[in-house]
Amino acid sequence: MPGPQDLKAIADRAVAEIGTCADDAALEAARVRYLGRRDGEITRATKEIATLPAKDKPAYGAAINEAKVRIERALESRAGALRGASLEKSLRDREDLTLPPRPVRVGRLHPVTATIRDISHIFGSMGFETVEGPEIETDYYAFEALNIPVGHPAREKWDTLWISNPLGDDPKQPLLGRPHTSPMQVRIMEKRKPPIRVLIPGRCYRYEATDAIRESIFFQYEGLAIDEHLTMADLKGVLYSFARQFFGGDRNVRFRPDYFPFTEPSAEIAFSCFVCEGKDPQCHTCGGDGWIEAAGCGMVHPDVLRRVGYDPARYQGFAFGGGVERLAMLKSGTPDIRLFAQNDLRFLEQF
Ligand code: PHE
Repeated sequence: MPGPQDLKAIADRAVAEIGTCADDAALEAARVRYLGRRDGEITRATKEIATLPAKDKPAYGAAINEAKVRIERALESRAGALRGASLEKSLRDREDLTLPPRPVRVGRLHPVTATIRDISHIFGSMGFETVEGPEIETDYYAFEALNIPVGHPAREKWDTLWISNPLGDDPKQPLLGRPHTSPMQVRIMEKRKPPIRVLIPGRCYRYEATDAIRESIFFQYEGLAIDEHLTMADLKGVLYSFARQFFGGDRNVRFRPDYFPFTEPSAEIAFSCFVCEGKDPQCHTCGGDGWIEAAGCGMVHPDVLRRVGYDPARYQGFAFGGGVERLAMLKSGTPDIRLFAQNDLRFLEQF
């Protein structure tokens, strides 16, 4: 005659077996084997109840319930474990390609930065070391040391933004946003002995109403070479080579006399137009002129050399300085210098 002990044995066996089921199909087979409505072991045992004496029925019924509950719980917990394991496995096996990627914004160099790097790279290939200098200058380096004393009419060439010093102004050394990179010629020569070959890119400031080709904040690149036998021919050769590398192709270089207090002789240098080669009177790049003005330049003035303690009989050199945005505009066909500082991505993303 069946008793509660038999049911406990069945439940023990069932729980052990369920614990080893490897997948849903095995689990379902186990469920049918024990709880199946027609032929499950527990179902069959339930039917035995009718054959028992009345006094044994309650204990037996309770045992059936307990066995059922234990088996059901075992089925449920095994099913949960299998679900967790299969999720983990699928995560391990392959990437979830259904997850949309986060958009990546790829940055790029600002066209002015890129142009400065190009310029530095090209002059670097000719032995010029790139150095930087202060954007806030003293009157001495910006003007005096470059042969432009107070009251000199050449000061009008550099519309100046004077700055008041929060720590107190020195009336003898007023501060200004440097109006050109030429002060660095003097600073470098004071610190070094020839031979010198440096390129100084940097931000400059001028008190100016802005328009399509003028900004009050802009960039220049300055070059300085000092040695024992340098001539105007070296200056020309260096700038010619620069033009060829920067604009590509064979560029002609036009020298025209100009005036700067700190170079003698002084010249304005222009490159033949790389777009029309001087053949298109309607050219947007050169204005039909065939030439692109690029920089002021000249042989460093003997007085400037003397001031930093160099003997002009022994050392000479040349200097040049031009606008960075100017070059960037010419090369990319940018029509307005103000675009460089407006931070408009529609413009910047074109570079
Ligand atoms: N500093 C001059 C300017 O800003 C350019 C220049 C540089 C001229 C070096 C001669 C030599 O206009």
